[in-house]
Amino acid sequence: MRLRNIPCADSVVQSHGAVIMDAKSQRGGWKQVFGNDRPIRIEIGMGKGQFLLQMAAEHPEVNYIGMERYSSVLLRALEKYDRYGSDGPDKDRQELGGDRKNTHSLENIRFLCMDACELEQVFIPGEVDRIYLNFSDPWPKARHARRRLTSSGFLERYARVLASGGELEFKTDNRDLFDFSLAQVEETAGWTMKMYTRDLHHDAVMKTGNIMTEYEEKFSAMGNPIFKFTAIKS
Ligand SMILES: C[S@@+](CC[C@H](N)C(=O)[O-])C[C@H]1O[C@@H](n2cnc3c(N)ncnc32)[C@H](O)[C@@H]1O
Repeated sequence: MRLRNIPCADSVVQSHGAVIMDAKSQRGGWKQVFGNDRPIRIEIGMGKGQFLLQMAAEHPEVNYIGMERYSSVLLRALEKYDRYGSDGPDKDRQELGGDRKNTHSLENIRFLCMDACELEQVFIPGEVDRIYLNFSDPWPKARHARRRLTSSGFLERYARVLASGGELEFKTDNRDLFDFSLAQVEETAGWTMKMYTRDLHHDAVMKTGNIMTEYEEKFSAMGNPIFKFTAIKS
C-alpha cells in the first residue's frame, strides 16, 4: 500500500465514531460493543476497506472488524464508509453493484488502527469466528519471513483468538507467498487445510460469493491468477 503522509489522519481516525481507539479495553466484550451476539469476523490489513464494507453490507447477520496499522490508510476506508452512509447512490455504491443490498447504515462494522502483533491483547480466546487476510504484504526477503502475516508466529496468534472450527481465509496473487503460506499452515500445530485454489476466479466452487479487494481488482486486471486458501482451526 503506497503511503502518503496525511497530516490530519490521526485526528480524523481518533474522532471517528466507527473506530474503537481503546480496543484493548474491549477485550472479551466485543459482543457488547456491537450490542448483539452475532459472530465476529476480522480482516487484518484491510487497506482501503472495499472488501470489508461490501461483506458488512451483504451479511448484516455478521459483525466485522477491520484492522489496519496505518492511520493514513484507515482514513481512506473511513471516507468510503462515510460515503456509504450518505443519501443516494455514489461512486463506491455503484462500483459495488449499484442497487445491491443497501449499504445505507453499516452498524455491523468497526475499525481498529493497530498492528496484528497485538491481536491477543484485543481478543480473548475464542472471541473471533473468522479471519481474512487479503493481499498481505509479501516481505520477500528471507530475513523478513517472520513479518509475513501467514508465518507460523501469526498463525499461532490467530489460533489463540479463533473459536474452535474458526476459519482463516487468505488471498494473494503472489505465488511465492502463497507457497510459503501453504507450508506454514501444514507445519503449524492446530491448523487443517480445508481447500485451496491457484486460480480463484476460474474455480467454480471457491469463486462463489467472492468479493474483490482493491488489490485483487488491480492484479486480476493485469492478468495475474488469484490464489486462495481456507484453513480451519482444529
Ligand atoms: C498490500 S495491502 C492490501 C490491502 C487490502 N487488503 C487489499 O487487498 O486491497 C496490505 C495492507 O495491510 C496492512 N498491514 C500490513 N501489515 C500489517 C499488520 N501487521 N497489522 C495491520 N495491518 C497491516 C498494510 O498497511 C496495508 O494497508
